[in-house]
Amino acid sequence: MKYGFFDDAKKEYVITTPTTPYPWINYLGSQEFFSLISNTAGGYSFYKDAKLRRITRFRYNNVPLDLGGGRYYYLYDNGDFWSPGWAPARKELDRYECRHGMGYTKISGKRNDIETEVTFFVPLNYNGEVHKVVVKNTGDKKKEVKLFSFIEWCLWNAQDDQTNFQRNFNTGEVEIKGSVIYHKTEYKERRDHYAFFSVNAPIEGFDSDRESFIGTYNGFENPQVVAAGKSNNSVADGWSPIASHCLAISLEPGETKEFVFILGYVENPLEEKWESKNVINKKKAEDMIAKFSDGAAVDKALDELAAYWDGLLSKYTIVSKDDKLNRMVNIWNQYQCMVTFNLSRSASYFESGIGRGMGFRDSNQDLLGFLHQIPDRARERIIDLASTQLEDGGAYHQYQPLTKRGNDEIGGNFNDDPLWLILAVVAYIKETGDYTILDVKTPFDNDESKATPLSDHIKRSFDHVINNVGPHGLPLIGRADWNDCLNLNCFSMEPGESFQTTTSKDGRVAESVMIAGMFVYIGKEYAKLMEKIGNQAEADRANKEVSKMKDIIMEHGFDGEWFLRAYDDFGKKVGSNENEEGKIFIESQGLCIMGGCGIEDGKAIKTLDAVEERLGTKYGLVLNNPAFTKYYVEYGEISTYPAGYKENAGIFCHNNAWIMCAEAVVGRGDKAFDYYTRIAPAYTEEYSEIHRMEPYVYSQMVAGKDAGRFGEAKNSWLTGTASWNFVAISQFILGIIPEYDGLMVNPAIPASWDGYQVTRLFRGDILKITIKNPNHVSAGVSKMTVDGKEISGNIVPVFGDGMEHEVEVILG
Ligand code: BGC
Ligand code: NOJ
Repeated sequence: MKYGFFDDAKKEYVITTPTTPYPWINYLGSQEFFSLISNTAGGYSFYKDAKLRRITRFRYNNVPLDLGGGRYYYLYDNGDFWSPGWAPARKELDRYECRHGMGYTKISGKRNDIETEVTFFVPLNYNGEVHKVVVKNTGDKKKEVKLFSFIEWCLWNAQDDQTNFQRNFNTGEVEIKGSVIYHKTEYKERRDHYAFFSVNAPIEGFDSDRESFIGTYNGFENPQVVAAGKSNNSVADGWSPIASHCLAISLEPGETKEFVFILGYVENPLEEKWESKNVINKKKAEDMIAKFSDGAAVDKALDELAAYWDGLLSKYTIVSKDDKLNRMVNIWNQYQCMVTFNLSRSASYFESGIGRGMGFRDSNQDLLGFLHQIPDRARERIIDLASTQLEDGGAYHQYQPLTKRGNDEIGGNFNDDPLWLILAVVAYIKETGDYTILDVKTPFDNDESKATPLSDHIKRSFDHVINNVGPHGLPLIGRADWNDCLNLNCFSMEPGESFQTTTSKDGRVAESVMIAGMFVYIGKEYAKLMEKIGNQAEADRANKEVSKMKDIIMEHGFDGEWFLRAYDDFGKKVGSNENEEGKIFIESQGLCIMGGCGIEDGKAIKTLDAVEERLGTKYGLVLNNPAFTKYYVEYGEISTYPAGYKENAGIFCHNNAWIMCAEAVVGRGDKAFDYYTRIAPAYTEEYSEIHRMEPYVYSQMVAGKDAGRFGEAKNSWLTGTASWNFVAISQFILGIIPEYDGLMVNPAIPASWDGYQVTRLFRGDILKITIKNPNHVSAGVSKMTVDGKEISGNIVPVFGDGMEHEVEVILG
């Protein structure tokens, strides 16, 4: 069942009912001011940091769902009132529609012949959310209506705001000047910022005290002020400050009126701190408000935003016969990758924004999905990440985006982390041709005195693996590898300790076949890069280590029909046919084959067949099988999850992509694409009532076949799934692959396809690539012409002339 439809021409998903199976959200903002907005305008805003600069309040896990806070509007018409976005009044509407687009959301609703449309967005280079509200009388009688706005201020630190009431109920301060409601509560001694909510029209009244507006025992659905059709003009004094305007609007039949509301944030540099208590410098807010004094200015900013997104999305576009594929590749997958760049794992409807910082492995993998869109910002991100690396090549597992420092509480010792940095650097250079990044003096642990060139950082990443191997010569897993919940060194955990703080005291010899596979896959890339920059000795050394590891994998890491997952701290096999549960895991299968293990001797194919048979379901591949049904102290957290959820045999969409890549590596395009369609959101749209999450973005996890709610997704938006699935489809399947000396074309597609076209903006050139499949094969390029001339091999050279070039590729 569907709850809307894709409007591809407008790059929108159109939701046609407010009661979607779960709130379906969008993100506004792409620089410093960000908002989450649901299909009924729920959500919140923050400046740079969702915890420390929270602007509007949000109640988590609230009942009713999605009534935890938002930017709300109410219409009042002669004793009746409603919200044009359905929430929060939740009165029935004659028409409702929500259009989530690229960086904007447009919600419209109609009742009593009043049609209201609100467009929400954050303009480029602007620290505020702009709402264009259009109210139209569609009836044949004159209407005298009232429009009420509503937002609730958060007292800046989102965690403190939800917990420290003894203090915060005393600190709230506001100021009302004309049609602007200023929120100027201080956060401790900061006094260097404030927020405001304005409208570009005279107001009939206002409210800034929540209880005066809502009524002590009312809810957002029936505020007493709205029910009475009249503001109280309350001025908050402590408690919970809000901002609500009331506009009296008279509308002739057919008449339309337009208003611009702005929810803005102003940061004053320290020298401009408030002159004295309570006196804020309003100049910056007034300038922001003046910028959007009418609807025309708003429309212009919306056009600029659209052009910005068109630019970002133009780097890779496909024309194929499959609309779902087209909309995933051209619009939504790339959009989600940008959102993960902006938000990492901080703020979604599953991440509170007050939790963890940015992950080292997460951010390096996220880069793979957006660096073609914003290479300069990717470069900065790589240096930030590498600056938190430790001298031994290990890495802090997380860092704080505001301070850019590694997080001491969590520390390092997740032994896959260092390798992801190599992959990100390699991908960046292949995309841009910019080798100078390797020379950037980059500190360790943010200590400038210890800075060495980035090339040395990636060498240390590589060496971190070979310096930390276990009894079989396989890499030690450390606290955990990519799978955070496979905690193989945890068995001597003290009562009351959690896996976050514990390392094994006895053994610490657990080894990861997954990291071994990564080492082969990424180590080869490291060697190629070294060769490319003329460091042949290092390339030779790296190749030797890689081939040694490959042999070790085939000797100690292969179980007969598939790759093992690990050895636990007792030296016992994990992910083996010998095990009672967890006989096979997905991660090592994907990465070992991506590294080229088992290709020549048929073991890779055998493995992939076992993956399909044991892990395959109609909704995607489960992580492991059989699921763990009891707790194993030697496996840790993974075995504490109910069977079928999360890392315990859930469908983790992130590493489904590795199997797509592995299938492409062995040339089985049909299977690669089949797995793609099992989890790509556009293909899940048809069964949204089961899947429940947004059909336009990936979720981290879908409940597996052992779960009570098989097929139901969770944790949409902020997940490494976005980048890896983009890599799988754009590079491994569609086969458009950046290489050092040009763009390689090497598809692995369903044999039934006749072909497709990709336009790729690569190092300034515009490459129009037409792929033809006359013999209906899955892989293999038989002929390639560039601007009409046949070339040998399958790499389109870099022209560097910024011109359009026609590439024709014949498969067969
Ligand atoms: C989740 C993992 C996640 C980890 C992050 C665990 O509870 O299951 O998916 O990586 O938390 O801290
Ligand atoms: C989510 C975490 O952010 C990521 O780092 C981890 O690899 C996966 N969960 C799997 O555990």
